[in-house]
Amino acid sequence: MHVTHLSLADFRSYARVEVPLDPGVTAFVGANGQGKTNLVEAVGYLATLASHRVSSDAPLVRMGADRAVIRAAVTQGERSQLVELELNPGRANRARINRSSQVRPRDVLGIVRTVLFAPEDLSLVKGDPGERRRFLDELVTARSPRMAAVRSDYERVLKQRNTLLKSAAMARRHGGRGMDLSTLDVWDQHLARAGAEVTAQRLDLIAALQPLADKAYEALAPGGGPVALEYRSSAGPMEEAHGREALFEQLTAALAEVRKQEIERGVTLVGPHRDELVLKLGQMPAKGYASHGESWSYALALRLASYDLLRAEGNEPVLVLDDVFAELDARRRERLAELVAPGEQVLVTAAVDDDVPAVLAGARYEVSGGTVQRV
Ligand SMILES: Nc1ncnc2c1ncn2[C@@H]1O[C@H](COP(=O)(O)OP(=O)(O)OP(=O)(O)O)[C@@H](O)[C@H]1O
Ligand SMILES: [Mg+2]
Repeated sequence: MHVTHLSLADFRSYARVEVPLDPGVTAFVGANGQGKTNLVEAVGYLATLASHRVSSDAPLVRMGADRAVIRAAVTQGERSQLVELELNPGRANRARINRSSQVRPRDVLGIVRTVLFAPEDLSLVKGDPGERRRFLDELVTARSPRMAAVRSDYERVLKQRNTLLKSAAMARRHGGRGMDLSTLDVWDQHLARAGAEVTAQRLDLIAALQPLADKAYEALAPGGGPVALEYRSSAGPMEEAHGREALFEQLTAALAEVRKQEIERGVTLVGPHRDELVLKLGQMPAKGYASHGESWSYALALRLASYDLLRAEGNEPVLVLDDVFAELDARRRERLAELVAPGEQVLVTAAVDDDVPAVLAGARYEVSGGTVQRV
């Protein structure tokens, strides 16, 4: 798929901007702080309902405005669609597809798909486990948009279960006999049901991603691997075959085992929100061991693998390369450029023309002082 038109109102630094786009490569070039990343951040938001830079929507709304609108015309094969999101920080966001009346924001998932490379990706390797969980979950949703609903069910159940555990912990501290814990059993079931689905999808994704990540790492840093993706579940070691029912049983049993601690601490200790994706380089975990350059190659390899996977499954995404070439040495720059050049649509940002490799010749836009002009 590709985006044929992007239109922003009160998004970040833009009061209004209209950007017609072609398939193939488009580069946004301009000095620091002119609004290049803001453009691709908006495209990424349509794909994931989140920014790759901030965790809340408030900074996405232009200072002084009270809502932002991102609109994109999207073409997939013969089909064209118009998606629109209105960001209302502190209130519910709104969405429309083909100008029809309201749909839920998550209904737009799957229309725009992106794989986005950005300097922030280094935290995929070096950051907290939450970064890697987010990576997995966003890709799971890109493969299968219905998972957005399962994930939000899980989040909701987790929140309610934590509230219940907190009040149990409070009651205990104040010397009460505690509360009726049969309610907790019901929440355990809900949590294990949704949790099993989330875990199964993640495991399935990791199995598909593993060989592609290894191949991508080898292409970027020959002889530097192998890379291995290991899922470490808070419910204990996972069986090779991971059917939903087996995962459900395992989560249920693990919850029963930690219940006493959970009531003491007032939080849920088992479930996909506590699981870890361990990224190994050779025998060692990349986090804490890999060099800066190796960590960068690893992060890029994960993104390239994501791209290969979505493409192989018939969901060709828009590739976004935000400021990545400046961070790479000449050799890796050329390799990355060659790997992505044939993409259906590739959006690149760079501070200077020279940072855009020659094989990525295509359309150029100059971004300066809130204007985006084709050159
Ligand atoms: N909510 C907002 N309201 C108004 N301006 C904003 C808002 N959020 C960010 N900006 C402005 O947008 C600009 C940053 O834009 P962006 O990150 O797209 O820059 P860039 O062109 O990618 O720069 P660099 O080359 O440094 O990466 C900053 O000047 C910032 O002040
Ligand atoms: Mg930028």
